[in-house]
Amino acid sequence: AAGNHLIEVQSKSGILEFACNPDDPILHAGLSQGVALPYECATGTCGSCRARVVSGEVAVGWDEAPGQSRLKRDKGEILMCQTRPLSDCVVRVPANVGVGFPRHAVPRRCDGRLDVITRLTPDVIHFEISLSEPISFEAGQFVLLRVAGLEGMRAYSMVNYERNAQRLSFVVKRKIGGGFGNWLFDRAREGEPIEVFGPLGRATFHPEEDHNLLLIAGGSGIAGMMSILDRATRDGYFRNHGGYVFFGVRTLSDCFYLDEFSRYSQEADGNLKITVALSHESCSGQQHPLHPEIRLASGLVHEVCARAMEDRYDNTMSYIAGPPPMVDGALRALIVGARATPDRIRYDKFG
Ligand code: FES
Repeated sequence: AAGNHLIEVQSKSGILEFACNPDDPILHAGLSQGVALPYECATGTCGSCRARVVSGEVAVGWDEAPGQSRLKRDKGEILMCQTRPLSDCVVRVPANVGVGFPRHAVPRRCDGRLDVITRLTPDVIHFEISLSEPISFEAGQFVLLRVAGLEGMRAYSMVNYERNAQRLSFVVKRKIGGGFGNWLFDRAREGEPIEVFGPLGRATFHPEEDHNLLLIAGGSGIAGMMSILDRATRDGYFRNHGGYVFFGVRTLSDCFYLDEFSRYSQEADGNLKITVALSHESCSGQQHPLHPEIRLASGLVHEVCARAMEDRYDNTMSYIAGPPPMVDGALRALIVGARATPDRIRYDKFG
């Protein structure tokens, strides 16, 4: 289209080209045209979309993005998720870059409206977005959301699972300084327009892989796990596979989705074990007082998990999502403690 710039990507696997609107980050333009550029967070934190500008002019959007600290900026290194082109560009990416996503839909931009806002605890909100056109996603994927008046885009994992979803469900936990979260808590009204880009993320669940599932989540990291449980339960996956969920919160009153956990656990007929780990409260009993299917334990979620799992890692695919220190702790526990290989661990870090 008029006004677009041409991006040439040089990678270990050859050269590819795509067009990029000057308003779009290079990463979004590439992904939405099926170019499998490297990324994880898509929001400037992880540094995995690093590239070097060989020629051309670019504009860096979020200068203080944590991922920028890993760059050699004097050598022209950029984060593709935070950088827009001001001219035709040639960029070099230190990875293989192919075309197409064998297991995932091509991400794209679409219009949405904030539809439902429900408070689950004093600092956790469930919200839903209705879309102008349906999108397909895998259980465990996320989208980026933008609202007018707030800078940048925030990543949220879907809680629901659907093919051709007209509606996406999310959960958000209030954080100090969390712009989008504060907006939802204080100012958002049903009907507000929200721009959606996605689906994104590779920490996805595929029933045909035939593994037992270990899901470890902290706070609103539970979102993608709920999507995985939703899909697995509908497929009857726990008839033939074991499942373990470890959900870390501060205290029992911070816990949410208890009804959903109980229902999934009952439907799994004993094959799905749910443990809530309380980091700031010692628990008097072994079970939740109102939900006997849910086990309680005190401690950090990855430590509770490591103790409980010990000899139960057989044929297991592990999913981890939560704040970076929690994810790092869980990765250490799995790789060092359980000798899990990286191809058996999928994770999402968000700060
Ligand atoms: Fe760009 Fe994470 S994908 S910093």
